[in-house]
Amino acid sequence: MGSVGILESMQQFPKGFLWGASTSAMQVEGGIENNDWAEAVRQGLAPTIGLACNHYHRYEEDFDSAKSLNHTAHRFSIEWARVEPEEGKFDSAELEHYKNVVKSLRARGMEPFVTVWHFSLPLWFVKSGSFGRKDAPAIFARYAAKVAEVFGDQVTFYMTMNEPLVWLGEHGKILNAAPGFGNPVKALRYFTQLVRAHHAAYVALKAVVPHAKVGVAKHQFSVVATNPLGAVVAHVFRFLWNRHFLNAIRHHQDFIGIQYYQRLFFWQSKKESESAEKSDIGWQLHPSAIYDTLKEASRYGVPLYVTEAGIADRRDQRRAWYIEETIAGIRHAVDEGVDVRGFFYWSLLDNYEFKEGFSMRFGLVHVEHAGSLIRTIRDSARAYAEIITTSRGE
Ligand code: BGC
Repeated sequence: MGSVGILESMQQFPKGFLWGASTSAMQVEGGIENNDWAEAVRQGLAPTIGLACNHYHRYEEDFDSAKSLNHTAHRFSIEWARVEPEEGKFDSAELEHYKNVVKSLRARGMEPFVTVWHFSLPLWFVKSGSFGRKDAPAIFARYAAKVAEVFGDQVTFYMTMNEPLVWLGEHGKILNAAPGFGNPVKALRYFTQLVRAHHAAYVALKAVVPHAKVGVAKHQFSVVATNPLGAVVAHVFRFLWNRHFLNAIRHHQDFIGIQYYQRLFFWQSKKESESAEKSDIGWQLHPSAIYDTLKEASRYGVPLYVTEAGIADRRDQRRAWYIEETIAGIRHAVDEGVDVRGFFYWSLLDNYEFKEGFSMRFGLVHVEHAGSLIRTIRDSARAYAEIITTSRGE
């Protein structure tokens, strides 16, 4: 479909559909020293984070950019290590900081979507046993409640955690906060603890703010089978990766944050996989297949928000196309009656990308990491802004 066709088909997104971008604290704020990733950097296990985008001090200016790009919502996370630097001791200045972040979004007419925990953890929590601690769900819920107390009625949408399985199998391993999948018995125990932590935080958040809408941000794959054996494997994979966690929390979720980056094939020939178009990070590009993940998640009967989908594209050659195709995939699901209520591109800024450091560029806004941290809005960000205007029928 050419871009005119896509723009036409984008009209009449449901009224109130939210448009925006996502970030996470550790990946953009800078200056965090007391979480597991900062310690991993000190130990030479991960690339330097330093000031990152210095979003901690420049969030007003970054929200001005988002606003100028027609965003009506924004997803960000709270850095747990900042607000609870010691077990049970909360830092009121840091809580105030996040309160101001929310205020500044509201002042721009943007709906805040808050991720309570996005991958990085306070060092004290990791050192004392991470989610392996028996009381971890209660500790996590106490932190979540504190955040909700401070935000009060200014925040409606909370995701307790970001991509629990990606954390469990990958990012949490950086300082052994998570066991990874290599140790299935331990992984299963942590899985159960994460489910409990979500439950506890869900209850705690709603006890403080009864009108809050609480869910998780869940990484989903589009899974395709190319032969009968592949169909069996795809079925099992879909169950284990896409559904198992959501099944476990099904009575404690008011919405689901869908995060989609990749389509998996069981199987694809070496030739097909080698010749497929890929992003800078090496992921195949199948943006409109986000449709599959939305269709699949519609079984849970709660509203869906696409809380992440994005492309690493240093030269900004494919990003506008990627966004258009993603939105076309969402549109396809909406047309079939799936209750999707928003889209948050990953990411607003060129963020710290874990083991890749700042080499992978996901941002709508280019950030010059070599010193100046100068921001430049990319052309694709403007293309997205135009889609938003068209889709709102303005
Ligand atoms: C994560 C982000 C990350 C993005 C791109 C998602 O899985 O939530 O933190 O930057 O993928 O790798």
